[in-house]
Amino acid sequence: MLRTHTCGELRLENENEEVTLTGWIQRSRDLGGMTFVDLRDRYGITQLVFDVNTDRKLAEKARKMGREFVIQVKGKVAERSNKNQNISTGDIEILADSLTILNKSKVPPFTIEDETDGGEELRMKYRYLDLRRQVNQDSIVLRHQMSIETKKYLNDLDFVEIETPYLIKSTPEGARDFVVPSRLNKGAFYALPQSPQTFKQLLMISGYDKYFQLVKCFRDEDFRSDRQPEFTQIDCEMSFVEQDDVLQNFEGLAKHLFKQIKNIDVDDFPRMSYEEAIRLYGSDKPDLRFGMQFVELNDVARGKGFKVFDNAELVVGINAEGCAGYTRKQLDGLTDFVTKPQIGAKGLVYLKYNEDGSFKSSVDKFFSQEDLKAWVDKFEAKPGDLMLILAGDVGTTRTALSELRLEMGNQLGLRDPKVFRGLWVVDFPLLEWDEETKRYQAMHHPFTSPKDEDIHLLEESPEKVRANAYDMVINGVEIGGGSIRIHDRELQDKMFSVLGFSKEEAQQQFGFLLEAFDYGAPPHGGIAFGFDRWVALFAGRESIRDVIAFPKNNAGRDIMIDSPSTISEEQLKELNIQIRKDEKQE
Ligand code: AMO
Repeated sequence: MLRTHTCGELRLENENEEVTLTGWIQRSRDLGGMTFVDLRDRYGITQLVFDVNTDRKLAEKARKMGREFVIQVKGKVAERSNKNQNISTGDIEILADSLTILNKSKVPPFTIEDETDGGEELRMKYRYLDLRRQVNQDSIVLRHQMSIETKKYLNDLDFVEIETPYLIKSTPEGARDFVVPSRLNKGAFYALPQSPQTFKQLLMISGYDKYFQLVKCFRDEDFRSDRQPEFTQIDCEMSFVEQDDVLQNFEGLAKHLFKQIKNIDVDDFPRMSYEEAIRLYGSDKPDLRFGMQFVELNDVARGKGFKVFDNAELVVGINAEGCAGYTRKQLDGLTDFVTKPQIGAKGLVYLKYNEDGSFKSSVDKFFSQEDLKAWVDKFEAKPGDLMLILAGDVGTTRTALSELRLEMGNQLGLRDPKVFRGLWVVDFPLLEWDEETKRYQAMHHPFTSPKDEDIHLLEESPEKVRANAYDMVINGVEIGGGSIRIHDRELQDKMFSVLGFSKEEAQQQFGFLLEAFDYGAPPHGGIAFGFDRWVALFAGRESIRDVIAFPKNNAGRDIMIDSPSTISEEQLKELNIQIRKDEKQE
């Protein structure tokens, strides 16, 4: 190798050793006759010293080097007089006696440091430089470690990794498909998998018993910080299992990763029904790092002449403990927050339980101190607490209060990224009503089994049927979700009919799977984790983009390679595709 050590390796015990290092120049400083250079590689930073008094020519050569030059340096390890506690090599420096420039570099468009001066757009255009930054290197290496630990855990439990194809036919996850035109089959298209769902079920029918795959999935949906058009799943399926077996196995995976990667022993994950999660937190992915559960006030707040409450389907609030001192301005800020169009509440009612035992609310006109006392009792509030209350239709009000709860959690520092609280949300509804198409849709996907005790409701009250479906949620992030599948052909047919698929449609889309069910499908179930989300959570990064080496931007573009882009007329012709004139891209 061109080096004897890495830039993160040398310590005081190496003093006086002759070493050779290679790396990139992070920065250099001239102090009198000395040039100090920070040399960086993946492993760390080591300080080099070029001294005019030792070798004038060498020192001058060093002084001329720019940032990001790639160099090889030979020299002797020496103890530093002013030690740097912030880096692992901070006790030593290299007194350089030879220097080879392995490659020059243009001045980079932004500084390659954790606190960089480069904006998002610029960093994405030069992602290969952005990836040199330590924060990004840490995240990418963490991703690798999590991948290896996941494979180790699953391998130890006899899971077999099996690859499934990328050029397939539409899968049933409910987003739009990315499609790929087929040259050999003119006018026909492959779809890229939204998940390997149907294949993993087929593998159970094939007898593989326990399958997993770290696999790319593709979904043409709107972007958010926790969504990318191509992302990675830890996709798993098991035969001869019930819901509890799946939860046990994969809670085990979570515990394994927490222990191996973060050295944290996490508590058992509580299980919460979907109904309870929505009622107490207004969300099917509650952040359990803090309490602030919802308190419903219908029976004490309505019927006192305050129209907003009287006309509301639901009056519900949270107690922000110790916040009675919030100023007018702070309260106005919260009102502005909940009435933003994205949140959608009409207004915010507050009730302060003052330290002196009196109550002060924004609706004192309508409610006596006694009325307010009844609210306070419901909240089990103490003097000094601030209750924040919303009213309206059930759905919007709960969603808005959920956002307010998270906002208060942020304001009060209750969402510490170093604290982790996981749970299973279980008993999801099987179906949800879609206003647009005026029909039921599978909440998870059409292969999810209904709970045995609810099957009789499938025809009269489909909305009441609960599914054997579950999500793993950590710190308010949906890390993964899965279900026990239908393995009975008749029940699957019934499910398709409830979903409004005609026999022909079901046959056309999923005929291969339905047919496979006729050849001895074992009871089976599984789960898939959003690997990018899990890495982002462990890395403490805001967006999954930060833990993907080459992600897409908000418009679904990779601006570094300039994709998507147009293709040549010949290619289009070969694929039998015509682009309308008015839609042609520059
Ligand atoms: P689901 O659609 O819930 O289930 O996806 C599983 C997990 O994948 C992650 N995820 C995403 N991550 C990043 N970007 C996206 N666009 C994106 N979409 C989903 C989430 C989610 O919990 N086949 C079923 C699983 C099963 O039933 O076994 C499935 O794909 O973390």
